[in-house]
Amino acid sequence: MESPQRPPEGERIAISEAEIGALQAIVEGYCGLSHGLDSGYLLERRLGPRVRALGLDSFASYCEYLRRPGDGPQELAEVIEELTTHETYFFREQFQLDAFQSEVLPELARARRHSQRLTIWSAGCSTGEEPYTIAMLLLESGLFRGWSISVIGTDISRKVLSAARFGVYGASSFRTTDPLLRERYFTAQGEGFRIRDEVRGLCSFRQHNLLDPCTVVGAGGADVVFCRNVLMYMGSVARRRIVGCFHDSLSPGGYLLLGHSESLINLATPFELVHLDRDLVYRRAL
Ligand SMILES: C[S@@+](CC[C@H](N)C(=O)[O-])C[C@H]1O[C@@H](n2cnc3c(N)ncnc32)[C@H](O)[C@@H]1O
Repeated sequence: MESPQRPPEGERIAISEAEIGALQAIVEGYCGLSHGLDSGYLLERRLGPRVRALGLDSFASYCEYLRRPGDGPQELAEVIEELTTHETYFFREQFQLDAFQSEVLPELARARRHSQRLTIWSAGCSTGEEPYTIAMLLLESGLFRGWSISVIGTDISRKVLSAARFGVYGASSFRTTDPLLRERYFTAQGEGFRIRDEVRGLCSFRQHNLLDPCTVVGAGGADVVFCRNVLMYMGSVARRRIVGCFHDSLSPGGYLLLGHSESLINLATPFELVHLDRDLVYRRAL
């Protein structure tokens, strides 16, 4: 039976300033996301259908629902799916990848020549194009034959991770990919292209909220962390905490690569800023 206060089907469920503030606090506290959450229009459009689907009459009741220990966490996963941006493609930000391939990888090949192990974490990997790109660059470099390589992709969204594991991509994922590389590392499947086992075998995927305890790799376990186009959507408290986790996760001398519009300015972290020939990157001190 419908609640008497519930707005009629098709009618917009309006959000008040107080409700925007409450929702912002819940979402930012859960996953760090803050960008765009001051837009009542966006929240109404993306989350209004959720409020209605749960049979609730207002965003205030929705916030209460999200705070409940039983239902809240499950519904928060739905909120995240609605509010996060998953835009990504292979070989994104090519100038940075050139620096990674021509400057960072040869240095790591020298530094790790005794252990012959390399661990790279792609944090906020979306549908997998970034970790698969990293794996292709490792193969292309020819520096790590016979090594134990692990490229770990993590994301908060289960949906994108299942697409990453599936590994079949359409044209938009290849918008900046050299056709020769697409031919070398993919096989045609239906309308799309499937990543080859040679690349897939270097990668694994797991669900991880970057605000949760820092357990993806052990302390000092990563040689490089890629976290591109993720922190730009987050508030400063979350950014500081996540960057602290990256610092702990990196081995001394390990690199942190952010997106081109992101930096650690104003965060006061122990990372060193390193001027490579082709890019600026961050490094954990030796
Ligand atoms: C714009 S995509 C970036 C993908 C890729 N790194 C790139 O640059 O192409 C941002 C990803 O970060 C993920 N994300 C956002 N908040 C997160 C959090 N708290 N923990 C883990 N992943 C998060 C989103 O689900 C989304 O898939």
